[in-house]
Amino acid sequence: MKKMLLATMIFFVSAAPSHADQIINQAIKDMMRHEKSNVSKPAPTPVVKQPVPNITVDPVAVSIGPLAQQRTFKTLSTQSEACIQCHTAVTPGIVSDWQQSMHAKDNVGCYECHKSPAPSAPGAFEHNGFLIHVVVSPKDCSACHPEETKQFEESRHAVAREFIAGVPGLALTRENTLFSTLGPVITTRGCQACHGTVVKIGKNGQPTPDTWPNQGIGRINPDGSFGSCTTCHTRHRFSIAEARKPEVCANCHIGPDHPQYEIYMESKHGNIYATRGAHWDWNAPPGTWNILKTGDAPVCVTCHMDAGLPDMKTTHNLSANLSWALQAPLTYHYPDWQAKQATMQEVCYHCHSTAWTVNYFKQADATLVVYEDRYYKPVFEMKQKLVSEGKWPGKPFSTPIQFKFFQYWHHEGRRARFGAFMEGPDYELWHGFYELELDKIELMKQMEKMENK
Ligand code: HEC
Ligand code: HEC
Ligand code: HEC
Ligand code: HEC
Ligand code: HEC
Ligand code: HEC
Ligand code: HEC
Ligand code: HEC
Repeated sequence: MKKMLLATMIFFVSAAPSHADQIINQAIKDMMRHEKSNVSKPAPTPVVKQPVPNITVDPVAVSIGPLAQQRTFKTLSTQSEACIQCHTAVTPGIVSDWQQSMHAKDNVGCYECHKSPAPSAPGAFEHNGFLIHVVVSPKDCSACHPEETKQFEESRHAVAREFIAGVPGLALTRENTLFSTLGPVITTRGCQACHGTVVKIGKNGQPTPDTWPNQGIGRINPDGSFGSCTTCHTRHRFSIAEARKPEVCANCHIGPDHPQYEIYMESKHGNIYATRGAHWDWNAPPGTWNILKTGDAPVCVTCHMDAGLPDMKTTHNLSANLSWALQAPLTYHYPDWQAKQATMQEVCYHCHSTAWTVNYFKQADATLVVYEDRYYKPVFEMKQKLVSEGKWPGKPFSTPIQFKFFQYWHHEGRRARFGAFMEGPDYELWHGFYELELDKIELMKQMEKMENK
């Protein structure tokens, strides 16, 4: 048994970075590439780098098996009863949230989630006679929800941390230049609040104040697992009704660089959600939610998790239906993009005809070609020229033109593409292509001046 657990743990430790490495490599490659694209061409095969096997595995961490032998219990454990007795006075909000959860109904109590297996387990501390930890990670949840955790780990959500600052000890150490420019104080409540911190454990066994609290979607937990389930299932209700609503995504998917929530709300789909959504069956138990019965528009999780469609299997891998990397400076296809697009289109077919759906994707795809040819190429090529001639400032984010160049692709360039793919005309045009048009003129003018200096 112990051997099997050891093997699982080693697999987990080495599997996670290798997957992350694949994604990172693709992203880095894309950022470096200025001359070639695969818009309307087949996707290149990603370079798969071997993970660096220099991770020290704590033998105690290895011995952590499934924390719970059971999913449901007839009665509440005596340990959990003790927690509740105190915590009803200490943190009444937490107890009342928990009482309204599905966990309370099945007697999954405080101790079942917070217990630690050994004093030397990551984050374990002694607490009124109990050995507990405060950071309940996806690995803890996986004891009872292995399927959802596995799918989550396969998604780009789980590796969101690496894109900003890498992970110490793993091969992923590339730090984002804006991240370094702004520094740790600003980014802890900024970038890292959405992407995740590397939670460190201090001397007293509890997480350090510079890394906790944190609920970033790609948080690196003390037990080595990636992510945080509470980003969508807020503790301690762990509600699915809440996770199904677009507002939960708006915690992160908003703002000038990724306004997916705003785009959705201005789309016809979002209009219908806003006007009729109050009557939809948000509390339907898992596996029984059917949006076709009560509502006639998709929400985020319909298109990105196949949720609410009775003939499709829900997934916690939010990357599963994406064919394009629209967030990159130069758009590129993900591996297996045809199959991913086909699944997305299968979602549309529940309410739209083939012609409506396929033509819509053709219209959106066409905007990518224009983005690349008319906006991306001339400006990036000119910038590359200045870099190669030593005329572009060496220090990142030190002059206004560097910010303008960044916003060109990172703000308006993304908005134009997101708007085109998610039915947001105002973002495609006024916050997107219109601004690209104006900024291209200004950038080219300034860069020509630098060239002639
Ligand atoms: C004797 C009373 C008592 C018992 C029993 C008790 N707690 Fe607590 N717990 C507290 C108090 C007091 C705090 C501190 C609250 C504060 O910081 O404001 C606390 C804090 C916590 C924290 C937060 C620690 C942190 O660093 O943020 C967690 C998690 C926790 N308790 C879980 C549990 C669990 C799980 C159990 C049952 C196994 C339990 N408690 C039993 C009184 C108790
Ligand atoms: C289904 C698992 C689960 C159960 C059951 C559970 N917790 Fe938690 N608890 C969590 C998670 C997850 C977090 C940390 C949130 C995060 O990951 O960002 C947490 C955090 C906490 C914290 C620190 C958060 C804060 O705001 O201070 C306390 C205290 C706590 N739990 C107490 C309790 C008590 C008391 C109970 C029982 C009434 C309980 N928990 C039951 C999963 C659980
Ligand atoms: C000891 C087992 C156990 C652990 C640990 C556990 N859960 Fe659960 N969870 C359950 C059971 C039992 C249910 C009730 C439904 C079921 O049977 O699947 C449930 C239901 C849920 C639901 C569905 C709620 C609904 O409204 O239908 C969510 C979401 C959930 N858990 C999330 C989590 C997360 C996130 C964690 C880790 C922070 C976690 N659980 C840890 C046993 C557990
Ligand atoms: C409000 C939440 C939030 C904040 C704050 C935030 N991000 Fe993000 N970031 C996101 C979301 C959401 C995405 C996904 C965008 C998409 O794919 O359309 C993202 C995407 C990214 C990507 C692209 C990853 C990829 O897959 O190619 C990078 C790099 C990144 N962010 C870095 C940063 C840095 C550095 C900071 C701080 C200077 C930061 N982010 C601040 C939410 C945030
Ligand atoms: C991006 C948001 C999001 C994140 C992150 C997330 N969930 Fe969910 N989860 C959902 C949604 C939406 C549903 C409802 C699916 C449906 O209606 O069929 C759900 C449903 C569930 C259920 C009910 C059974 C099922 O699969 O439908 C469980 C259990 C669950 N999640 C556990 C987890 C665990 C464990 C994690 C962390 C590893 C997690 N979730 C992270 C959005 C999320
Ligand atoms: C706590 C912040 C947070 C929340 C909440 C969140 N996301 Fe994300 N999401 C991110 C970040 C950060 C990224 C970028 C991750 C990366 O590229 O590694 C991302 C990426 C994505 C992607 C792109 C994945 C890919 O492969 O490029 C999709 C789709 C997505 N999120 C959908 C959702 C949906 C739908 C919800 C709500 C149900 C949601 N997210 C909730 C932070 C969040
Ligand atoms: C009608 C279906 C639909 C709905 C509803 C929807 N999306 Fe999307 N989303 C798409 C499509 C289509 C794409 C582009 C897919 C591709 O890459 O081929 C996309 C792309 C994305 C991306 C990836 C952008 C990138 O960087 O490549 C994110 C993140 C995202 N959506 C988040 C959300 C969020 C958050 C919501 C709700 C507020 C939402 N979506 C609602 C269909 C939808
Ligand atoms: C659950 C049903 C449902 C699903 C699934 C769905 N839609 Fe829709 N969609 C609608 C309804 C209803 C309207 C409003 C039609 C009207 O205006 O009369 C609509 C409107 C539209 C419009 C017209 C608005 C505009 O901006 O042009 C487009 C385009 C569209 N959907 C594309 C898609 C795509 C692409 C998908 C899949 C990624 C999809 N839809 C999935 C129900 C759905």
